[in-house]
Amino acid sequence: MGHDASGYLDGVVFLRKPISSTTVVLVALGYPAVLSWSTQEPISSTTVVLAGYPAVLSCGYSSEQPPDSVDWYRLEGLDAEQERTHLLYHDSNSGTFAFGNYSDRAEVVEPANLKLQPVYMSDNGDYECEVPTTADYDTFLSKVRLQVLEAPDGPRITGYSPPLFAGQTLHLRCESQIVGDVRPTLVWYNGSRELSRIDPSVWQPETETAVLNYVLDVSKYDNAKAYRCQALYRGPVGVREQKITLDIRYAPTTDIETPLGKVVREGDDVLLRCAVDSNPPSTVSWDRLEGDMPANYNLFEDGRLLRIVKITRNFHGTYQCKAENDLGVSTTSVELNILYAPSIARQVLDTAEALVGENFTRACITDGNPPPTVRWSREGSEEILDDPLYFSSVNFTDDGSYICTARSEVKYFPESTAKFRLDVKGPPQIVKQNTIFSAKENGSVTLECEVESDPPATRVAWKWESNSIESGTVGRYSVRQKETPTSILSTLTIKSVQASDFRSYQCLILVGRYSVRQKETPTSILSTLTIKSVQASDFRSYQCLAVNVHGEETQVIVLERATAPPPQPIPLVAIILPVILVFIMVILGLLYYLRKYWQRKLPWTPKYLKNKDMEMRAIEDDYLPPIAQDSASPMPLLPGDDPTNYYMEPDLIRDLEFPRDKLSLERVLGRGNFGQVIKAKAQGVGGADKPMTVAVKTTKDGSSADAKEDLLKELKMMKLIPPHPNVVMLIGYCTKTEPVYVIVEYCALGNLQNFLRKCRSKRDSTYANIQVDERLLTPRDLASFIWQIARGMAHVASLKIVHRDLASRNVLIDKNKVCKISDFGLSRDVYDTDNEEYEQKTQGRLPLRWMAPESLFDHVYSVKSDVWSYGITMWEVLTLACTPYPGLSPPAMMERLRNGFRMSKPVHCNDEVYDIMRKCWEDDPEDRPTFIDLVRLLEDVITKAEDFIKIDEIPAAMYDESNSKKSKQEKC
Ligand code: ADE
Repeated sequence: MGHDASGYLDGVVFLRKPISSTTVVLVALGYPAVLSWSTQEPISSTTVVLAGYPAVLSCGYSSEQPPDSVDWYRLEGLDAEQERTHLLYHDSNSGTFAFGNYSDRAEVVEPANLKLQPVYMSDNGDYECEVPTTADYDTFLSKVRLQVLEAPDGPRITGYSPPLFAGQTLHLRCESQIVGDVRPTLVWYNGSRELSRIDPSVWQPETETAVLNYVLDVSKYDNAKAYRCQALYRGPVGVREQKITLDIRYAPTTDIETPLGKVVREGDDVLLRCAVDSNPPSTVSWDRLEGDMPANYNLFEDGRLLRIVKITRNFHGTYQCKAENDLGVSTTSVELNILYAPSIARQVLDTAEALVGENFTRACITDGNPPPTVRWSREGSEEILDDPLYFSSVNFTDDGSYICTARSEVKYFPESTAKFRLDVKGPPQIVKQNTIFSAKENGSVTLECEVESDPPATRVAWKWESNSIESGTVGRYSVRQKETPTSILSTLTIKSVQASDFRSYQCLILVGRYSVRQKETPTSILSTLTIKSVQASDFRSYQCLAVNVHGEETQVIVLERATAPPPQPIPLVAIILPVILVFIMVILGLLYYLRKYWQRKLPWTPKYLKNKDMEMRAIEDDYLPPIAQDSASPMPLLPGDDPTNYYMEPDLIRDLEFPRDKLSLERVLGRGNFGQVIKAKAQGVGGADKPMTVAVKTTKDGSSADAKEDLLKELKMMKLIPPHPNVVMLIGYCTKTEPVYVIVEYCALGNLQNFLRKCRSKRDSTYANIQVDERLLTPRDLASFIWQIARGMAHVASLKIVHRDLASRNVLIDKNKVCKISDFGLSRDVYDTDNEEYEQKTQGRLPLRWMAPESLFDHVYSVKSDVWSYGITMWEVLTLACTPYPGLSPPAMMERLRNGFRMSKPVHCNDEVYDIMRKCWEDDPEDRPTFIDLVRLLEDVITKAEDFIKIDEIPAAMYDESNSKKSKQEKC
């Protein structure tokens, strides 16, 4: 052991004094005893030590020989008349003995010093050591003083007396004792954040208390925050601290959260949560500004959560929450929009009568939210007519039934239809079919005149010269009338007619739920004039006359003498047509031959497609997603599951340059700001005869050099990724000339976000079946999706690639419902350090709602920040692609995230699935699972429970189609 100049050593202070004299004393060996012993020996040294520390009392004896024995005594009494009260330690050849409460903490250390470990406050006092010296049978005596000081209490915080009010200034003072040379470092903390510190060196030797002040202007955000003052003492006192938790009083602020959205369907439940921030807590009340609150509402969570059961349209409007505490009042309101299906007013159904030549109009009066679009059509015709239905001059041809269809933009609302009959009345119409007839002399002929009339014609007659025949036979001329009703003839026969039967009757036509009252039906009369033994004088014109209450109509009909037909020439067509057919067949044969020839010569085939065309075909044609295939064995291997199947050396996939002329672009699948994706046919992929449908990523016309560079970067990234069933596969690229094409596999069902949103509108009432393009989407499909995405990401992560934009919009889905990770536009190779420029470029548009806190706040991206985004993507899938953090603006969302907020469990998913999501959202990236963990966890949960997601409990309002009209932050 050594000590420094100040005498400070591990918290023990030795103050040495020279031994002034020695006195010969008889030594009594033995057991503890109170000895009456008085000595004039002065105190030779004082040892100052903190309670709890070890202390070494120096005897001051030195000799080359170790002493035969050493005795240590405790002394009592005043300096001059001290008495040995006990022998506390004896050390001699016969053994060592420590007595009393020293028995287990005292020992003699070379040569004759006494070590006490630890020392207690009660050890304060004087001690004497006695060592017999062999040379002159003398005894060496020495007195030492032990001064034990109390260990400091630790810091004390003053200056805070609750309650405080937001806006006040708080002067915090932290004091801690200085004991001897034991001086603390003082530090103020807010949580784990250091605010200020002061080192021990600033204290003057005589200072008794270390002090550190901290001044703070408090705001409501400081409420419940802990402020700690730490005193760091060297040695066993160590770290002492005191903590205060601020109680800051402030008036309430309110915000309304709408977990099920502000737009709901009639009959749905509504949930409104009044998020109140206040101290002390506020009382909360709800009100509807337009009038009464609905009868069937309940309050939960101390009145903050308002639940309206099966809301009806008349309770639309503004709902206000009011929070009040001693310091103030706050109100916030939200407008509830209640959607309901279209309906059509009854009066639209009434049959209308119009006279020929009049104007006619009928409006389709509808109700519905959103207001439905209305269109008219005529029964039996496809033509769409505008609303209101309008005829500038009604004609008989307008007579008929008209259907009004009211259709809501909310796709799952059924359309409403109503049909009415337009009954056109007017003078008879002669339907012109044939106005010239021919006959041979002496033959017979029948002239026809077809009359349509509503009301029916009262008279139809044939006239020529002075003749007029309505019916019957006059000489060689006979006239017949045949009536053909144009609608079903329904008869009501009344037997034994009573007086009360003399009244009006209605005949109803029922079509589905609708009925049309039919008063009269327009009739068609075919009137014929038959002339027998036709004479030369009969070749002339005749008049057909029809009359009803509204007027009359005449038609001139001519009878001509029949002539013999001329011989027919052979039509030219009969010669030309066979010649053209033979020519076409020759050309087609030639084209077929050429195609075969070129295919054989095609140089280009990606090597992995050549080698693995069996797997390719499996992925292309036969692969069904695991869960959809067989629910009893939910996670079978996928084609290509064995990574060795697809493994290839990186340089194998590097040369996929594809001949541009073997691509035929078809239609644009999607457009972004700078790029577009086009559906195309690629001829000769994998040496196949049949062209393969592919998707081609390219830049838009006139896009910048940056856009091209981004596309090339994405290509570079994709080239690093060997094929995997859950990652969109690179098929080839055209980079030799512009525009650059990146050719990837085609995913017929588009991106997962749109796909899920489309499913919402098609779901039926049980939701066990969601219909999309004639396919059913089940809870197991959703499970399969999240599982496949985890698998795809495990593959990407295994290559040390960070995707940085994982979201359902960037997952594609093929015709067999296989999910494929795509859009490597933002992705980075973690070994690639050249990313400054990239950061810059994407700074403007970041997928904030999908980003982990470390990415949002510190621009740190890793596989673990991809895991966070995966958790968000999982949440998207389980809510059928709601927008994350519904109802929160980006700044509000970021603020909440910073304070540890996480999205709550979607009501319809079970706790285990939600646990997995929450693991992805651990604050510390290291605490989040890996993608491989996620695949396993999901397999466990999904195979264990059938009800991991109760798809039929998804509140309908959550993914209302009308959401497409909402802003991003409102949209669920
Ligand atoms: N949209 C973007 N990429 C696509 C692809 N590979 N298939 C279908 N649609 C797409």
